[in-house]
Amino acid sequence: MTPRLLPLIVPGPTTGPHGSRSHMTCLYKCGNACAQPIPNTSTNEHVQDVITGAIARRSVLKVGGGALALTAVAGFAPAAARPRGTGRSGGSAAGANLGTAAFTPVPPNTIDDVTVADGYTRDVVISWGDPVTKAAPRFDVRRQSPEAAAEQFGYNNDYVGVLPLSRNRALLVVNHEYTNEELMFPTGLYDSATIKRIAIESHGLSVVEIEPGGKPGSWRQRPVSSTRYNRRITGTTQFLVDGPAAGDARLKTSADPSGKRVLGTFNNCAGGTTPWGTVLSGEENFNQYFQASGTTPAEYATSYKRYGITTSGGRQWMGVDPRFDLTREPHEPFRFGWVVEVDPYDPTSTPRKHTMLGRFKHEGANVTIARSGQAVAYMGDDERGDYLYKFVSADRFDPTETQQAKKHNMTLLTKGTLYVARLTGDGTTDGEYDGSGEWIALTTDTTSFVPGMSVADVLIDTRLAADTMSPTKMDRPEDVEPNPVSGKIYAALTNNTDRGVKYPTDEANPVSVNRHGYVLEITERGGDHAGTAFGWMLLLVCGDPASPQTYFAGFPKDQVSPISCPDNVAFDRHGNLWISTDGNALGSHDGLFRVPLTGTARGQVQQFLSVPSGAETCGPLISDDQLTAFVAVQHPGEKSGATFESPGSTWPHTDPFPRPSVVAAYRA
Ligand code: FEO
Ligand code: CA
Ligand code: CA
Repeated sequence: MTPRLLPLIVPGPTTGPHGSRSHMTCLYKCGNACAQPIPNTSTNEHVQDVITGAIARRSVLKVGGGALALTAVAGFAPAAARPRGTGRSGGSAAGANLGTAAFTPVPPNTIDDVTVADGYTRDVVISWGDPVTKAAPRFDVRRQSPEAAAEQFGYNNDYVGVLPLSRNRALLVVNHEYTNEELMFPTGLYDSATIKRIAIESHGLSVVEIEPGGKPGSWRQRPVSSTRYNRRITGTTQFLVDGPAAGDARLKTSADPSGKRVLGTFNNCAGGTTPWGTVLSGEENFNQYFQASGTTPAEYATSYKRYGITTSGGRQWMGVDPRFDLTREPHEPFRFGWVVEVDPYDPTSTPRKHTMLGRFKHEGANVTIARSGQAVAYMGDDERGDYLYKFVSADRFDPTETQQAKKHNMTLLTKGTLYVARLTGDGTTDGEYDGSGEWIALTTDTTSFVPGMSVADVLIDTRLAADTMSPTKMDRPEDVEPNPVSGKIYAALTNNTDRGVKYPTDEANPVSVNRHGYVLEITERGGDHAGTAFGWMLLLVCGDPASPQTYFAGFPKDQVSPISCPDNVAFDRHGNLWISTDGNALGSHDGLFRVPLTGTARGQVQQFLSVPSGAETCGPLISDDQLTAFVAVQHPGEKSGATFESPGSTWPHTDPFPRPSVVAAYRA
């Protein structure tokens, strides 16, 4: 989600100025976005200090005045010199296979369109408002209703999963993270309550059957009348809660005395597709949906504060549903902030919220199967100064179950161990790792390792539990995903607006300003995903390659694309990393980048695609045949002061207003 904080400005009590928008309450949409204080006030070490320590221990830090930062960052390069002359590829050898094709990178630009590398093209697969179910009316921006929105493609597509049905059919599963009401509704046409109800139904997920288009690599929505899989999951769809905290007193409300049945999912950001054929989706900045009409219970004050839950500001949904009023339903926020699991192959299935994976601002969750057969989910808590986590299942994955009919594998995320990461700077002398790390067990499904906290306490107040176990504070963990080819894990740590303020640059902290983010490469010791020790290495320090404060795994910096604010990551079958960005602080539009991870091309960042004005690039996915790159174009037209009548973009230029859409890019 974007670090720009613009979308919905609602009148009401102020929570403090947000950039130039003082005296207004802004809906912060990401862990960076607000003038709100950083919720992690623990004294745990910050990764930036760890990184600095790693540099120093590698004895490559040359304290030399203005050149300090350059020298220090360059010190991350492996000792062996990288071969030169493996830089920018010519377009002449371009091909259809995105894992191997040479393409001329898209130059940084501010074109109000999806721009792809020469020789490629792109189609819109589905847009906000398009019918998803058979009950969906044709989209009419002037005749929106909550009932229609619940059957149409939701707003602000983020995660994209594609699950096969057959050779020529697949299920597209998409998150709808949040809504830009200022861009969705003609000014003055709808009343405030209707807008809120439509917004609630425009959140959640969509499952949409797709089929190949007319050209190799192209895909389109299959006619709604010919599919039995399409479904919408919205802010009012029933979920079942499972795992050790299900039914806890803190999850019970007047509407749900069981504490196991929750309506809706919100702020679903990134996600992952599991080996057993489901989609996991992270409930990220859920705090913005809760406010209070009066007092709130003192016993929850610490928890609310740690999760950024405030009594004013935000989306004020309590105006249409009392469950969003903390005064009336103080437990409702404990029912959000989970990883949810959806089985797209069974359109009648009830989606789940897995308490075993902890409660925080989940960016997403990506599962791999350890050598032992245990399922391991990697996760990030997207907030300035929060942590990396992983979950290891107690039971083993059953590979004999099919994706379309599974039972045992659907229970894997209900029992196991939840860990949080501690990073230290003691790397290996051979330069294989910049530092090492440890997965600290917080709790199993039966035993808590956090003094004074029960299993349910740890899972519901995971941030507070982790604070006491000395993990490492990170710069806004976004996507954390294992590479299916190498098994290494890649964590996108995006910009931190507080860098340079709370952590001023000095000789000991040469990379303390983090405007453009970086990417960590994590290697589980012995390749054991179920283990508790790992090594880590900085893969990328993003930014303008001409800046000394950047690093591209040692690849020649004059031969890479500028990249800023990595958010989502994906892999192709050749093991290349694909990075989508959000909030490009270099002034050009966000985009999608390919990065080889092995051989002489390691670190060769090349921009494959750029997105329209105001948009971030989400959910990248490279199809298994490597002919198609799917991206979700989120919040096109979002900018300060934008309105429906005066948006920052009208992409995809089918209407006089923008429509967030999923795009398929392929060889022309
Ligand atoms: Fe929704 Fe962390 O981005
Ligand atoms: Ca994101
Ligand atoms: Ca991803």
